[in-house]
Amino acid sequence: MHVAVYSTRRYDREFLDRANAAGRHRLDYLEARLDLSTVPAAGAADAVCAFVNDRLDAEVLRALQARGVRLVVLRSAGFNHVDLAAAAALGIAVGRVPAYSPHAVAEHTAALVLALNRKIHKAYARVREGNFSLDGLLGFDLVGRTVGLVGTGQIGSAFARIMAGFGCHLLAHAPDEDPACIALGARYVPLPELLAASDIVSLHCPLTPDTHHLIDAAALAQMKRGAMLVNTSRGGVVDTRAVIRALKTGHLGSLGLDVYEEEGDLFFRDLSSVVLRDDVFARLLTFPNVVITGHQGFFTEEALTAIADITIDNLDVFESEGRPRHAVSVERVV
Ligand code: NAI
Repeated sequence: MHVAVYSTRRYDREFLDRANAAGRHRLDYLEARLDLSTVPAAGAADAVCAFVNDRLDAEVLRALQARGVRLVVLRSAGFNHVDLAAAAALGIAVGRVPAYSPHAVAEHTAALVLALNRKIHKAYARVREGNFSLDGLLGFDLVGRTVGLVGTGQIGSAFARIMAGFGCHLLAHAPDEDPACIALGARYVPLPELLAASDIVSLHCPLTPDTHHLIDAAALAQMKRGAMLVNTSRGGVVDTRAVIRALKTGHLGSLGLDVYEEEGDLFFRDLSSVVLRDDVFARLLTFPNVVITGHQGFFTEEALTAIADITIDNLDVFESEGRPRHAVSVERVV
């Protein structure tokens, strides 16, 4: 197939070229994010390959369809950025990568927990300046602490295994209970109970209308004073302004983010010589007890290999069967 691959960086090209070594598909790599203004860059492609911050709303899908695009393959598990009803109405099939390496994101979540708890970000900078003082670096033992998991799918349950290994107690909240988490000792409870009892709350649910701003001012108020919040799911699950208020009062003890509500204008680019225009993000950067990474949870050798392989397989299967292997639609997710 002829595919316009949006939002690509050097590493995307490297892994996709390897997966497409047989040359079955023509991959046109574009650095630009997909939105209405960059639709023409798709040229004569009959498929579009997109990433997490590409825009796939009804308007963009209509413009793509008018150019002859019949398929969208996502290089992500999350599909909250696609108007699936519009895609169905326009006859555009949508494929995704349902699972590549849940361990990549779970391990990155653990990295954020450890960095925040033991103040690794501060210690690293101090030692490089010859400051070996320990003041302000006090952490707590993880053993015996309570970790609350919001969402216990592939990533949430992988993170549960890691934290059980540290000797943490596990609470969980999700519409469907995972037997593997229960076997680790996790107890499923309503969200308010999880928030009230957890020392660390970690978010692993998809972004949906139900989970948008799930962690808002009211939810933050229910959390233990001084608790840690970690979000490696999607930025929109957290009300960032409410989180800033909770950090300012000291009610929220620390915050680890790999995702941010307005990350589309920031992440995956080098903006180090550009003035930061997002005042909310800028405020977050001022807190000593906040660690932010730029959506890198998925960024491991294993995950990128799997993302590229599954993306090429989605294209192969669409060519032979008229639908991607891992189709996602309004009615069902395969
Ligand atoms: P999954 O589909 O295996 O699990 C999602 C879990 O969330 C399930 O347990 C589901 O029951 C639960 N859930 C759904 N609605 C909920 C609600 N209202 N309240 C609480 N729980 C709810 O998904 P997976 O693979 O574990 O990924 C989770 C999320 O992580 C993805 O949706 C994506 O947004 C994010 N992600 C982030 C990456 C990163 O690089 N930071 C990479 C990959 C995924």
